[in-house]
Amino acid sequence: MAGDERRVIVDVRDVKMVYNARNRDQSTHVHALRGLDVQVYENEFFAIMGPSGSGKSTLFNMIGALQTPTGGEVLLDGVNLASLSPQQLAAVRCFELGYIFQTYNLLPVMSALMNVALPTVFAGMTTEEGEKRAMECLAIVGLDDRAHHLPSELSGGQQQRVAIARAFVNKPRIILADEPTGNLDSKTGQQIIDYMKSLQREMGATIITVTHDDKMLSAADRMAWIRDGRLERIADRSQIEIQMGSIKEH
Ligand SMILES: Nc1ncnc2c1ncn2[C@@H]1O[C@H](COP(=O)(O)OP(=O)(O)OP(=O)(O)O)[C@@H](O)[C@H]1O
Ligand SMILES: [Mg+2]
Repeated sequence: MAGDERRVIVDVRDVKMVYNARNRDQSTHVHALRGLDVQVYENEFFAIMGPSGSGKSTLFNMIGALQTPTGGEVLLDGVNLASLSPQQLAAVRCFELGYIFQTYNLLPVMSALMNVALPTVFAGMTTEEGEKRAMECLAIVGLDDRAHHLPSELSGGQQQRVAIARAFVNKPRIILADEPTGNLDSKTGQQIIDYMKSLQREMGATIITVTHDDKMLSAADRMAWIRDGRLERIADRSQIEIQMGSIKEH
């Protein structure tokens, strides 16, 4: 980090992932990541773009401590995930990371408030504290008046706002989002990006999102493109000018 005062919070070093997909009579190796290095700085909004099948979700799973790479290493705030016990990894997933998925992944039988409050239970908060914190997060995404609705009583965009509130409720240092606007129309998608941005400002989290959505580029401080399991290039805001529907490079 010499000469750069920004603090690296996610350090992906030569990460490889080979899936062993078995057919009935043969097994095929799929090289989803072919040695990828990328660093993300604290408090930045980092967007990872790339075509379908390029390895974005695989990278998301590696950074999110959801999958172990077959090569290389991932360090979160200087700690190598490979050095952690299952209990320590569970704590990292609970306290350090917040996840947002394309399909919201809300529990259908629980109200919006209960969905958002659930991670606070694992964090050891009392019900009262947890619900208070959940209500604050729902208010930031403009849904405090829908707290007692079930997910099925909410629109897709509202469900994703509940999922965002849930990702932030334990005040994690890193928020990971995989195609958070993938199931939403363009206007609702923009709203989701704006809420992610305002939570980033209010809570000071680092946001890493993998996406196909060009709108995400207008919110991102830096962006990376991956192709065929490799990092193709990285740019920051000053290097690209984002126009309606198109991207111009300087
Ligand atoms: N569990 C798995 N077993 C075998 N191959 C897999 C598995 N998961 C992903 N792959 C393969 O790894 C490659 C990368 O997949 P990945 O899901 O990371 O792509 P992606 O960039 O997220 O694509 P998309 O934009 O469509 O979501 C693809 O070729 C995919 O078929
Ligand atoms: Mg994907």
